[in-house]
Amino acid sequence: MFSFFKNFSSKTINDFSFIGTDIHSHLIPNIDDGCDNLENSLICIEHLKRMGFNKIVTTPHIMASVYPNTPVIINEGLKLLTTALKEKNIQVEIEAAAEYKVDELFTEYLATDNLLTFGDNYVLIELSFVAPPVNLEEVIFTMITKGYKPILAHPERYRYWNDKLHKFEYLKTLGCLFQLNLMSLVGQYGLAAKIVAHKLLSNNLIDFLGTDLHRFEDVNTLQKLLKSNDDFKKIYNSNPLNKLI
Ligand SMILES: [Fe+2]
Repeated sequence: MFSFFKNFSSKTINDFSFIGTDIHSHLIPNIDDGCDNLENSLICIEHLKRMGFNKIVTTPHIMASVYPNTPVIINEGLKLLTTALKEKNIQVEIEAAAEYKVDELFTEYLATDNLLTFGDNYVLIELSFVAPPVNLEEVIFTMITKGYKPILAHPERYRYWNDKLHKFEYLKTLGCLFQLNLMSLVGQYGLAAKIVAHKLLSNNLIDFLGTDLHRFEDVNTLQKLLKSNDDFKKIYNSNPLNKLI
C-alpha cells in the first residue's frame, strides 16, 4: 500500500533524536518566564536529553521593559548552568542565544550589531501577539543585509495571521525562516495554533522545530507528542534543519 510517510518507521524512531538540536527554550533560571530555579532547569535539561536532543541552544527572552536581558546576563546564566551540569554529570552540549521580541530595544541592538546568534549567524525573533510590528519588513531586510539569518519563532501562534498563509509565504520570500513549536501540534496553545501548525507543515513552510520549553510541565506535553503517531510522522517528514546547528 502506498504510504505518504515513506521515510518513517515507528519501529526505529520514537524520540526527537532526528531533530538533534533544540533551538528554542527558556532554561536559564530566573531571567525570564522560564525555569524558576536551577534544580528545575537541570531536571528539564535531563529530560530533553532523554527525549533525544543532543544539543540545546537555550534562548531567554529579550524584551524591552519586560525582560531587558543582555549578553552579559545570559552568558553568566549559561556559565552557572554548564557548571551545574558538569557537577551532576549530565552530558549535553549547551549554548545560549536569545529570543528577541521585535521592538525598540531589538532595533537598537540590531543597529549596533549587539545580537546573540547561533549556528551560521541565525537570530531567533518573536513578534507581539497583539499586532505585527509596523517595521517588520524593514527589520528583516536590515537583518539580512547585515548577514543575519532571521528565524521567526512559533509563527502558528500569531492569531492575526491565522487565516493569512500568504503572509508567511511573503515573509519567506524576504528571507525569513520559520520555527514551529512542537507543543503546538498537540494543542498546547489552543486549537487555532494547532490548526495553523499543521497547515504550515503541510505547506512545507517550516524550517526549524523547537520545544520552547519553559517548565517541567512542558516535558509531559512533549511526551504526548512522542506518543501521537500521526503528529510525530508529520514532524519527522518535515526534515527540519536543526542538525545544521
Ligand atoms: Fe520562547
